[in-house]
Amino acid sequence: MNVETLVVVGAGTMGRGIIETAAVHGLTVKAVEPSDRQRESALGAIEQSLAKAIKRGKLEIKSPNEALSRVTWHADLADVAAVADFVIEAVSESPSLKEQIFRQLDVQTRPHVVLASNTSSISITRIAAFTGRPESVVGMHFFNPVPIMQPVEIVRGVKTSQSTIDQTRQLAERLGKQAFVVADSPGFVVNRVWLPMINEAAFALQEGVADAATIDSLMKLGCNHPMGPLELADLVGLDVCLAIAQVLHRELGDPKFRPCPLLVRKVDAGQLGCKTGEGFYKYT
Ligand code: CAA
Repeated sequence: MNVETLVVVGAGTMGRGIIETAAVHGLTVKAVEPSDRQRESALGAIEQSLAKAIKRGKLEIKSPNEALSRVTWHADLADVAAVADFVIEAVSESPSLKEQIFRQLDVQTRPHVVLASNTSSISITRIAAFTGRPESVVGMHFFNPVPIMQPVEIVRGVKTSQSTIDQTRQLAERLGKQAFVVADSPGFVVNRVWLPMINEAAFALQEGVADAATIDSLMKLGCNHPMGPLELADLVGLDVCLAIAQVLHRELGDPKFRPCPLLVRKVDAGQLGCKTGEGFYKYT
C-alpha cells in the first residue's frame, strides 16, 4: 500500500519525534494523544526542534509551519483510525494499554494496514496476538532523539509477514532512516546491549564509586560516547530504562539484568529524568 497518511498514537518523547520526522518527510500525519497537556507540549517541542534544525541548515523547509501544517492533532483514535495507511503506536510501555490500542486498531483500521509498535521491550508476537491479523503487526523501534538518530530496528514477530517487513522498511527509508531487521527477542539488539551499561552506571553511583558527573565524564572521554550513561538515561526516561531492565530480567531469567535499586527508587519517587525535571540530575 502506498503510504500517504500516517497515524501516530502517543505524543510522548518518542511519538513527538516520529511525528516531526514524518511531517518533515512529506507525510500527512494524524497525531493521536488524549492528554491536552501532552498535545500542547508535543507541538511546542516539535516547533522548537524544527526551528533549531532549520537554523542549522538541516532542512529544506523555511519555517516549522511548512512541516507542522501536515500534522493534525486528535484526542481520540476512533476519529482517524479508518483513514490510516500505516499506524505507528508509541504510547508508554504498558502491556494493558498496548492491548487496548491494538484491539481497537484491529477493528477500526482497514484490513492489511500495517500496525507497528515502537515498543522498546515488549514482545511483538505478544502484541500481535491482541489482533486478528498478526501478520500485519511489526516492531518499528526508533531511537531518541528520533529526528537525529539514524537507525530503526524492524522487529519480526513470529507471524509477521514478509510483505509487512518490506512495507515497514520502505517507510523507514522514506523517513530517512536506516532499517535493520531483527528477531523478536527481549530488548531486541540495542536495548539488550545498551541497558546493562545504563544499569551498571546506576550501580556504580549507588555504591559510591564516583558521583554522577564523574561517571558520565569518564564514559564520554574514556569510551568516546556522545553522552554519559546517566545523562542519557535521564534523556530516555528512567521509567523506560526500568521497564526495559525488568523485561530483560524476567524474560531472559539471568540475574545480570536485575534492575539497580537506585533506578527503582527514582522511578518510585517520580524522578523520571528530563521530562519531570529530575532524574540522576536536576533540570530547570
Ligand atoms: N532534525 C534534523 N537534524 C537535527 C534536528 C532536527 N530536528 N535537531 C538537531 N539536528 C542536528 C543538528 O543540526 C546537529 O547536526 P550537525 O552535528 O551536523 O551540526 C545534530 O543534529 C546534533 O544536534 P545538536 O548539536 O543539537 O546535539 P548534540 O551534538 O549535542 O548531540 C545527541 C545530541 C544527538 C543527543 C548526542 O548527544 C547523542 O548522540 N547522544 C546519544 C543518543 C543515544 O544514544 N540515543 C539512543 C538512546 S537508546 C534509545 O533511544 C532506545 C530505547 O528504546 C530506550
